[in-house]
Amino acid sequence: MPTITLDNNNTIEVPDNKRLVLALEDGGVDMLHRCGGYAKCTTCRVAFNEGEPTAMTAAERDRLADGGLFGQVRLSCQILCDHDMRLANINHLIGSPYDSAGTRPHDEITPDPQWINRPH
Ligand code: FES
Repeated sequence: MPTITLDNNNTIEVPDNKRLVLALEDGGVDMLHRCGGYAKCTTCRVAFNEGEPTAMTAAERDRLADGGLFGQVRLSCQILCDHDMRLANINHLIGSPYDSAGTRPHDEITPDPQWINRPH
Protein backbone atom coordinates (compact mmCIF):
# COMPACT_ATOMS: atom_id res chain seq x y z
CA MET A 1 0.00 0.00 0.00
CA PRO A 2 1.60 3.28 -1.05
CA THR A 3 1.85 6.12 1.47
CA ILE A 4 1.13 9.71 0.51
CA THR A 5 2.82 12.23 2.81
CA LEU A 6 1.51 15.79 2.74
CA ASP A 7 3.47 18.95 3.43
CA ASN A 8 1.93 19.10 6.92
CA ASN A 9 3.39 15.59 7.48
CA ASN A 10 -0.03 13.94 7.56
CA THR A 11 0.05 10.59 5.81
CA ILE A 12 -2.55 8.67 3.85
CA GLU A 13 -2.33 4.94 3.15
CA VAL A 14 -3.71 4.33 -0.33
CA PRO A 15 -4.80 1.20 -2.17
CA ASP A 16 -2.41 0.38 -5.02
CA ASN A 17 -3.21 2.22 -8.25
CA LYS A 18 -5.89 4.46 -6.78
CA ARG A 19 -6.22 7.72 -8.64
CA LEU A 20 -4.23 10.34 -6.70
CA VAL A 21 -6.97 12.98 -6.77
CA LEU A 22 -9.38 10.49 -5.17
CA ALA A 23 -6.80 9.25 -2.69
CA LEU A 24 -6.30 12.81 -1.48
CA GLU A 25 -9.97 13.69 -1.36
CA ASP A 26 -10.96 10.44 0.33
CA GLY A 27 -8.10 11.01 2.76
CA GLY A 28 -9.71 14.25 3.87
CA VAL A 29 -7.55 16.67 1.88
CA ASP A 30 -9.34 19.85 0.77
CA MET A 31 -8.96 19.42 -3.00
CA LEU A 32 -10.38 20.94 -6.15
CA HIS A 33 -11.12 18.93 -9.30
CA ARG A 34 -13.31 21.31 -11.21
CA CYS A 35 -13.29 19.51 -14.59
CA GLY A 36 -14.10 16.15 -12.99
CA GLY A 37 -10.68 14.66 -13.67
CA TYR A 38 -10.35 15.20 -17.42
CA ALA A 39 -7.02 17.08 -17.48
CA LYS A 40 -8.75 20.29 -18.51
CA CYS A 41 -8.82 22.65 -15.51
CA THR A 42 -5.52 22.13 -13.62
CA THR A 43 -7.27 22.85 -10.29
CA CYS A 44 -6.22 19.40 -9.01
CA ARG A 45 -2.56 20.36 -9.27
CA VAL A 46 -0.02 19.15 -6.74
CA ALA A 47 3.67 19.91 -6.21
CA PHE A 48 5.96 16.95 -5.56
CA ASN A 49 8.71 16.97 -2.99
CA GLU A 50 9.60 13.30 -3.44
CA GLY A 51 8.44 10.46 -5.61
CA GLU A 52 7.25 12.37 -8.65
CA PRO A 53 6.03 9.72 -11.10
CA THR A 54 8.08 9.23 -14.23
CA ALA A 55 4.92 8.19 -16.09
CA MET A 56 2.64 10.89 -17.41
CA THR A 57 -0.44 10.89 -19.57
CA ALA A 58 -0.26 12.70 -22.88
CA ALA A 59 -3.30 14.70 -21.77
CA GLU A 60 -1.42 15.92 -18.67
CA ARG A 61 1.65 16.84 -20.68
CA ASP A 62 -0.42 18.81 -23.15
CA ARG A 63 -2.44 20.63 -20.49
CA LEU A 64 0.59 21.56 -18.41
CA ALA A 65 2.44 22.76 -21.49
CA ASP A 66 -0.56 24.85 -22.60
CA GLY A 67 -0.82 26.44 -19.17
CA GLY A 68 2.90 27.18 -18.79
CA LEU A 69 2.96 24.83 -15.79
CA PHE A 70 5.21 22.11 -17.11
CA GLY A 71 7.98 21.24 -14.66
CA GLN A 72 6.26 23.04 -11.78
CA VAL A 73 3.23 20.95 -10.86
CA ARG A 74 1.46 17.72 -11.76
CA LEU A 75 -2.23 16.98 -12.20
CA SER A 76 -3.40 14.60 -9.48
CA CYS A 77 -6.26 13.39 -11.68
CA GLN A 78 -3.71 11.96 -14.10
CA ILE A 79 -1.63 10.02 -11.56
CA LEU A 80 -2.01 6.55 -10.11
CA CYS A 81 -0.70 5.78 -6.64
CA ASP A 82 1.79 2.97 -7.27
CA HIS A 83 4.60 4.11 -4.96
CA ASP A 84 5.22 6.39 -1.96
CA MET A 85 4.96 10.11 -2.64
CA ARG A 86 5.53 13.33 -0.72
CA LEU A 87 3.63 16.31 -2.04
CA ALA A 88 1.62 19.45 -1.41
CA ASN A 89 -1.83 20.12 -2.75
CA ILE A 90 -2.05 23.67 -4.00
CA ASN A 91 -5.68 24.61 -4.57
CA HIS A 92 -8.35 24.37 -1.89
CA LEU A 93 -12.11 24.62 -1.96
CA ILE A 94 -12.04 26.62 1.26
CA GLY A 95 -11.24 30.17 0.28
CA SER A 96 -11.92 29.54 -3.40
CA PRO A 97 -14.67 31.23 -5.41
CA TYR A 98 -16.31 27.83 -6.04
CA ASP A 99 -19.26 26.30 -4.22
CA SER A 100 -18.01 22.74 -4.72
CA ALA A 101 -14.77 20.93 -5.44
CA GLY A 102 -16.21 19.74 -8.76
CA THR A 103 -17.79 16.55 -10.02
CA ARG A 104 -16.17 13.51 -8.43
CA PRO A 105 -13.69 12.02 -10.91
CA HIS A 106 -14.23 8.45 -12.10
CA ASP A 107 -12.16 5.71 -10.48
CA GLU A 108 -10.27 5.23 -13.77
CA ILE A 109 -8.10 7.89 -15.37
CA THR A 110 -9.96 10.01 -17.89
CA PRO A 111 -9.62 10.66 -20.74
CA ASP A 112 -8.45 7.15 -21.70
CA PRO A 113 -4.75 7.48 -20.84
CA GLN A 114 -1.91 7.37 -23.33
CA TRP A 115 1.11 6.83 -21.08
CA ILE A 116 4.40 8.50 -21.90
CA ASN A 117 7.64 9.01 -19.98
CA ARG A 118 7.68 12.40 -18.30
CA PRO A 119 9.74 14.69 -20.53
CA HIS A 120 12.59 16.59 -18.84
S1 FES B 1 -7.28 18.80 -14.47
FE1 FES B 1 -9.32 19.11 -13.83
S2 FES B 1 -9.51 17.72 -12.21
FE2 FES B 1 -7.50 17.39 -12.86
